[in-house]
Amino acid sequence: MMNPKVFVSRKIPEKGVALVRDFCDADVWQSEIPPSRAELLDRVKAVDGLLSALTERVDAELMDIAPNLKVISNFAVGVDNIDVAAATNHKIPVGNTPGVLTDATADMAFALMMSAARRIVEGERFVKDGKWKTWDPQLLLGADIVGSTLGIVGFGRIGQAMAKRATGFDLHVIYHDPSAKPAFGATPVDLETLLHESDFISLHVPLTPITRHMINRETLRMMKPNAVLVNTSRGPVIDTRALSDTLKENRIFAAALDVTDPEPLPLGHPLLDLANCIVVPHLGSASKWTRDQMSVLAAQNIIAGLRGERLPNCVNPQVYI
Ligand code: DGY
Repeated sequence: MMNPKVFVSRKIPEKGVALVRDFCDADVWQSEIPPSRAELLDRVKAVDGLLSALTERVDAELMDIAPNLKVISNFAVGVDNIDVAAATNHKIPVGNTPGVLTDATADMAFALMMSAARRIVEGERFVKDGKWKTWDPQLLLGADIVGSTLGIVGFGRIGQAMAKRATGFDLHVIYHDPSAKPAFGATPVDLETLLHESDFISLHVPLTPITRHMINRETLRMMKPNAVLVNTSRGPVIDTRALSDTLKENRIFAAALDVTDPEPLPLGHPLLDLANCIVVPHLGSASKWTRDQMSVLAAQNIIAGLRGERLPNCVNPQVYI
């Protein structure tokens, strides 16, 4: 019998690729640059499984062009690049990689929060630009962490891991998430209260029609002038133009972004000219162990789907009803 055919759309860690290769005929995209739309559609035409990344739009058009497609496995916990409703209509289970990236992503959010508060990136630039002439009692004064209020928007696994870290830094933690129970001493509040009261705001929501531009001109206006906004969720949760205007006018203290809209930000983008904005290239889950484990989970999902078994991590279990 012929092995099932799988397209792996990015060069994910070998640990996962090896598992896929053991079971399938795997076509692994080799370039550092993701496949273009045309290349993606061409590669999936005859596949039984697609192991995708967040750089690929997996929509109804793609599913129609791939009549044998039995499983989509995303190398990410977020699945906003996939039209999950269309997959459900096509009876295709969609897998993701939750859990293994919780700590790495919370570490990144915490590191960004600390870096923006203590102006680490500005300080480094100051030194490397040859501006460091002497110790200065007023140089690059930052925001205090201890005793401040951290507001966490979205209190799932990663939001809670952020709260856990905050307990070690004597932060007062509040969160907004109508579907989450309190944990790690954090107090639930409505979004408006969180925006009004927080010194640090960290976003941990999935991108949905409801959360798109959740941080906009109006919600930015509710933040304190000393607020630091951290985003490790998805870029479009923030209205980019509104944020760059707010930072330019120093109406909040700083922002630290692991994710942006668009991604990547083109050179010359207003956010890249602002000293009070840190931008890193979507590195939340980018640690060695984490990416290895994500590749294993993604492989397990695709193999289960091709065997006709339930995916270990499935975002549309309705396909099994
Ligand atoms: C995810 O998993 O959704 C991250 O954004 C990439 O690891």
